[in-house]
Amino acid sequence: MTEPLAEIKALTALLNRYGHAYHVLDEPIVPDSEYDRLYRQLVALETQHPQARQADSPTLRVGGAPLPELKEIAHRVAMLSLDNAFSDEDAIDFDRRVRELLQEDQIEYSLEPKLDGLAMSLRYEAGMLVYAATRGDGSTGEDVTHTIRTIASIPLSLMGPEIPAVLEVRGEVFMPRAGFFAYNQRMRETGGKEFANPRNAAAGSIRQLDPKAAASRPLAFYAYGLGEHSKPIASTHSDTLRALADFGLPVYSGVRTAVGVTGLLDYYREIGNARASLAFDIDGVVYKVNRLDWQIELGFVSRAPRWAIAHKFPAEEALTTLLAVDLQVGRTGSITPVARLAPVSVGGVTVSNATLHNFDEIARKDVRVGDTVVVRRAGDVIPEVARVVLERRAENAPPTPIPTACPVCGSALARLDDGAVWRCSANVENCSGQLKGALRHFASRKAFDIEGLGDELIEQLVERGLLRSYADIFSLTLPQLAGLERMAEKSAQNVIDAIEKAKQTTLERVLYAIGIRDVGENTAKQLNRHFGNLAAIAGADLASLQAVQDIGPIVAGRIHSFFADPKSMQMIGQMQMAGVRWSEGAPKAPQEGPLLGKSIVLTGTLASMTRDQAQAKLEALGAKMSDSVSKKTSMLIAGAKAGSKLSKASELGVQVLDEAAFLALLDSHADALSGAAGVSQAPAPLEQAPKAATPVQTELF
Ligand code: IVH
Repeated sequence: MTEPLAEIKALTALLNRYGHAYHVLDEPIVPDSEYDRLYRQLVALETQHPQARQADSPTLRVGGAPLPELKEIAHRVAMLSLDNAFSDEDAIDFDRRVRELLQEDQIEYSLEPKLDGLAMSLRYEAGMLVYAATRGDGSTGEDVTHTIRTIASIPLSLMGPEIPAVLEVRGEVFMPRAGFFAYNQRMRETGGKEFANPRNAAAGSIRQLDPKAAASRPLAFYAYGLGEHSKPIASTHSDTLRALADFGLPVYSGVRTAVGVTGLLDYYREIGNARASLAFDIDGVVYKVNRLDWQIELGFVSRAPRWAIAHKFPAEEALTTLLAVDLQVGRTGSITPVARLAPVSVGGVTVSNATLHNFDEIARKDVRVGDTVVVRRAGDVIPEVARVVLERRAENAPPTPIPTACPVCGSALARLDDGAVWRCSANVENCSGQLKGALRHFASRKAFDIEGLGDELIEQLVERGLLRSYADIFSLTLPQLAGLERMAEKSAQNVIDAIEKAKQTTLERVLYAIGIRDVGENTAKQLNRHFGNLAAIAGADLASLQAVQDIGPIVAGRIHSFFADPKSMQMIGQMQMAGVRWSEGAPKAPQEGPLLGKSIVLTGTLASMTRDQAQAKLEALGAKMSDSVSKKTSMLIAGAKAGSKLSKASELGVQVLDEAAFLALLDSHADALSGAAGVSQAPAPLEQAPKAATPVQTELF
């Protein structure tokens, strides 16, 4: 057991260093959740041993030290923070406390997203902006008027007839995601410094000394309350926000009111579901007692009001230990390094594996076994190792070696065409790693969709020699499956049933499943539509393949040589003999929309939505989706970590849209999209009429 005093000193020093990196340098070392954990640990220790508390303990103040170069401003009304609720129970307790203190049965609340940016106080005198100050320690902040003035949405003078002589507007400055991605992309291209996340980007930009630098950064502001004001402007919080909007201040359109605690929890879930598709980062929602006289009655405890609470979403970043770097062999032989992690909860899900993308990424991030790493998971995106906490690295930790041979079959590795990816040089028959990958793809949802034939089962079946080809799947028997480890008779029967069901399929699924390189679901769809049957595709020459929408010479070449190989037709014949049947030549879907006639390719990871969601939106606008880039491609939408398709597009002069430009494109067609069911652009879901099922909620705007 460490001595409490020593522990308190160490924690204080550590937290102060993390706090400085975060608040002053805008370069966080650890995720917020880790800071909070250590902070709570320190609070607990200090409560037990009050005499050991250090004079510079972070628990004695809020926020970081002001930059010496920025002038200080004393807040005339303190800028407070909010208590947090981490569960439904916490929110229910909050509502109960409020009702008990007020001796009321039902409370009306204002419901708002908790914006993840930088708190700001804007002071208007006689309707003119006189200064803007950060929160600082709550009583003294920094004068950032020079950078705030560069935010176009913040009015320099207020409008309307009844503007109070003094009006301090409190709100959050933030960087919308699209702007953040565009900014970082620009920094990558010009060798400038990227920001870790939109919040740091906002804070870093606002606390710039040079307003010109801030002006080039896309910042935004939403008002959420008041500081000092010379006369009352409303009697409820929601009317206050309405009045602020009337004065010309930006107020988020998805703010609502609700009576009773179920309305709070409904809002929490609604915003939680919309979170990934919002234009900006939020880390929870805020509930505020709506009546201002009740707010006054409830008052404050230490630094936070009793009349409000922040209901937080689970954190999207967490710290854990990298246990090993495993190499996964894909169906085309590509080698993907996978991080094996000590299990950790991220965004409400336990994560024990994360992608490391490729070896260039490992080198760039300098990831080593034993490292403490930050794992990130946003929405549906595959968890990734975002960065290493270098200062927690053990001495002598060796760099991660780049493999020279296939970890499965031992064949030599070669670099794939885009350079970053290494690939096993053996063919699929000679590398069980590739075979397993091919079988996983074959059984996957968009291919033959064989439920229950997952990674573990494929692993065992290949190891026992029961699966050597696709066709073998269709001759598996119940005794073979039931004889495997961890396989009950019932589940074995379910797999057999799923295989039986999968025998009836469509030509486009077959074309996708057999894994011709670069033939994804979209190309498979086009081939089926164009030729109508398998024999015609197999017999087509290069010129007729290239006549298909979206198929360029490279993909045409791959399809042609696939079918020219007698083993391919043999494999298809075996599947047919095992009972596989498919329907052919689906009719052309009637199409319309502003992107009609455009052939679009998606690549890389999008932060704001999944690829399937992006595809659905583009198709709803009339675009034709394609899997590979050719001269016929109208545009490439490139998310993070885009590789060969991006270089190919630049080579061919195909228009490339990054995520920011893509979101802007969707935005410009928002009308067309909102007409199409299920693909409405956020924050549209909040602006639409409230659902009948939640009558307790009313909209503010
Ligand atoms: S109200 C006295 N409303 O969260 C109440 N704060 O932890 C003061 N924040 O410093 C805050 N969105 O920077 C309020 N809709 C919202 C908010 C919000 C984000 C931030 C704000 C504040 C912190 C409190």
